Amino acid sequence: MKVDNAATQLKPFRLVKFFTFSGLAVVLVFALVLSWFISDHTKRVLLERREAYAQVFAENLNHQVFQQFVIPIVLRYGGIALRNPEQFRLLDTIVRNVTHGMNIESVTIFDSRENVTSYSTVPERIGRRGEGGELYEKALKGQNNSVLCSTGSLRNLLPGVEPITCQLRTYIPFRQKKPLGKDTDVIMGVIEIAQDLSEELEEIIELQGIIIAASVGIMTALFVILRLIVAKADRIIEARAEDRRKLEERLHESERLANLGRMVASVSHELKNPLGIVGSTAELLRKRLEAVAPGNGHLAKIIVDETSRLDGVVREFLDFARPHAPDKKAVSINKMLVAAADFMQAELEKRGVKLEVHLDETLPLLMADWDLIYRAFLNVMINAVQAMPEGGKLILTTRRPAARRPGAVIEIQDTGLGMGPQEREQLFTPFFTTKNRGTGLGLAIVKNIVDNHGGTIEVESEPGHGALFRIIL
Ligand SMILES: Nc1ncnc2c1ncn2[C@@H]1O[C@H](COP(=O)(O)OP(=O)(O)OP(=O)(O)O)[C@@H](O)[C@H]1O
Ligand SMILES: [Mg+2]
Repeated sequence: MKVDNAATQLKPFRLVKFFTFSGLAVVLVFALVLSWFISDHTKRVLLERREAYAQVFAENLNHQVFQQFVIPIVLRYGGIALRNPEQFRLLDTIVRNVTHGMNIESVTIFDSRENVTSYSTVPERIGRRGEGGELYEKALKGQNNSVLCSTGSLRNLLPGVEPITCQLRTYIPFRQKKPLGKDTDVIMGVIEIAQDLSEELEEIIELQGIIIAASVGIMTALFVILRLIVAKADRIIEARAEDRRKLEERLHESERLANLGRMVASVSHELKNPLGIVGSTAELLRKRLEAVAPGNGHLAKIIVDETSRLDGVVREFLDFARPHAPDKKAVSINKMLVAAADFMQAELEKRGVKLEVHLDETLPLLMADWDLIYRAFLNVMINAVQAMPEGGKLILTTRRPAARRPGAVIEIQDTGLGMGPQEREQLFTPFFTTKNRGTGLGLAIVKNIVDNHGGTIEVESEPGHGALFRIIL
């Protein structure tokens, strides 16, 4: 039942843990999508610009080639034949002049009559057939179009991976021009303009990497902070659950004790009167027996002794079951302790126990019930003496509490048998006893009395090293 409670209490915090993990995952996905979106957009803008640039450039090239090459060559040779080195050199010079400083990787011109590369700034490509492809066909029909050939991904950010390559190829029809530079419908060929975008793509991929790294970094920091908060909350909740459990336990315990007390009180009450009668009758019997049969009086004395012991036990039961409300007056704790020790004097001598007393004479008077506190001291001292069957030392100490708090600290220490942790734990539990003839109520009563005075009692003890009872009032 209790465990169940604790489990339901902790549940919401498991949820928070789950949220921290899923939050991390969501933000990571978000960072990836964001970086992809930004880089894709940047890539598109770059391509559009470069494509527009290629078209303007091609337009210019078309014009220059037509004006400076096509017209003069046709006039001079009657037709264009690039196999003629002179013609080729002229065209090459014009193209290189136009390309110079324009950030263009290569220029290639395809002949429109047969799909053959008639001119290229890359010498190996000249004369090849069928290299144009689909884009060449489209350009032949008057359409401008481009293709991007690139190898590059986030993987390229790792060291040792081969470098990024990216090339934009734009295909534009090579038109015949009117004298004023206006286009005609006659398409003489196709111009292919290649631009190297490797550096730009590399920068975009770097940007992508930076966005992802930054998001991961920020999220990890957030995650760590969240985890710390959750861990702290967990500890607080656990501590509260523990407190509640202890409180519940104490509540159950006091309920149990109250029931026990009522039962003990009624049984003891019923025993008290008959015991009194048995005791006085036995006393009478003893006297008469002595007269009739001298020397047999000790038999009746056994009955008297045992009934008086039983009477003591019953009285202790009643004390425990019906604790008096303390009747507080200003009393001297020192005097009380000395009075209790005096009462014990004969017993101490009989058992060979030495008494040592250290009193703080500056101790103020305290508001307390003399009878009750005296009884508490006596109970603890009797235990101490009983724990020293071979004799020893009983040390009584009083002093003021630390940090100038009001009140008094009373220590009752013996050099007897001592006790282990298990015994220490049960010490104040009613009916816990290790003695043959003990009731186990002595310390339960002491605790009741100290509690009723708003004080505390603590124990220090090791087996074989005596025990120290410290009462703080
Ligand atoms: N000074 C001590 N040294 C060692 N053990 C102790 C000491 N005081 C108490 N105890 C242990 O605590 C138990 C409980 O003590 P408590 O006074 O409550 O009952 P009791 O002495 O056994 O019986 P009662 O006091 O009712 O006659 C004792 O039986 C003993 O085992
Ligand atoms: Mg006792």
